[in-house]
Amino acid sequence: MKNLNAKITAFGKYVPEKVLDNFDFEEMVDTTDKWIRDRTGIVERHIAADDEASSDMGSKAFADMQERFDVDPEEIDLILVATITPDMFFPSTAALIQDNIGAKNAWGFDLSAACSGFVFALENARRFIESGDYKKVLVFGTEKMSAITDYEDRSTCVLFGDAGTCVLLEPTEDEEGVLDSIVKMDGMGKDFLYMKGGGSRNPASHETVDKKMHYIYQNGRPVFKYAVNNMVDAGTELIERNGVSNQDLSLFIPHQANKRIIDACASRLDLDDDQVMINIDKYGNTTAATIPLGIIDAYDNSRLDKNDLALLTAFGGGFTWGAILLKWSIEQ
Ligand SMILES: CC(C)(COP(=O)(O)OP(=O)(O)OC[C@H]1O[C@@H](n2cnc3c(N)ncnc32)[C@H](O)[C@@H]1OP(=O)(O)O)[C@@H](O)C(=O)NCCC(=O)NCCS
Repeated sequence: MKNLNAKITAFGKYVPEKVLDNFDFEEMVDTTDKWIRDRTGIVERHIAADDEASSDMGSKAFADMQERFDVDPEEIDLILVATITPDMFFPSTAALIQDNIGAKNAWGFDLSAACSGFVFALENARRFIESGDYKKVLVFGTEKMSAITDYEDRSTCVLFGDAGTCVLLEPTEDEEGVLDSIVKMDGMGKDFLYMKGGGSRNPASHETVDKKMHYIYQNGRPVFKYAVNNMVDAGTELIERNGVSNQDLSLFIPHQANKRIIDACASRLDLDDDQVMINIDKYGNTTAATIPLGIIDAYDNSRLDKNDLALLTAFGGGFTWGAILLKWSIEQ
């Protein structure tokens, strides 16, 4: 049997209608549009409706995929959902999406790797495809970050947004799709970025609610440093071991947590501005959805064409991080 690769053959996205811009935050906390733009690059972010959960946004992203491509939900074998904002502990968001979209022949599961969720899920999905046993795998990155954000904490509330995304992976015998990957984790990062309450260590109680333990906690400065160093290291290792030069890369699509992190990574990877995908201004940090939003916006703006080489890098809570070298498969 020939070696199989996994390629992206379809994609879809959904961003909620409601937008919070930086001026809205001036009314809510002690901040300014200038501080947010200068320190993060974010201008606005989309916020889900009260009755809209992560599975709803993922399902709407799949509807967008169906408008763009000919995808039959009954042909899907497996659904992987990267999210840290599942609708509930169980059943999984994957099960909820499976029911919503009518993928009645698929099984699936959720995967928790925070902002590295999409890279971790893509790595899993491609291994299923490469086994030869799976023909169509749907990968979702879908997050309702507004559900775990403290809108009284200026150091985190300005950063996050909501979105749903999905991509379809299928096998190919050609040298395209996911060419190589690096995925890493170091649990010492647990003290820098976490949500303390609601799990088995601190089950939900009046006390956990009073102490705001169901919101994101982040110590921004060290996270910033680890994010840059680890994304650059993973990206560099991947480029070098594949004999690719920086100039061969059509597009660098990093996780969108902070424009200054992206700029620092691009500069250390020696990339030109036109090689770097930045859309954090429009969406903020949507955690597991940032990289697929980057891929889709790049394609929609004619910045990705068949055979283009893209480098994806991610960093998130855990700590988790990774990089993927992708030869894009869909013509403009
Ligand atoms: C969060 C982040 C934007 C903060 O930027 P920073 O330049 O590191 O700022 P600091 O946290 O050091 O705070 C500097 C000052 O700005 C203040 N500040 C924080 N948020 C602010 C806001 N929204 N508006 C105005 N001032 C703010 C702080 O209170 C602090 O004030 P002080 O010096 O009086 O104490 C930045 O650290 C970051 O992006 N970190 C990494 C995020 C990330 O990668 N997440 C993980 C992957 S998801």
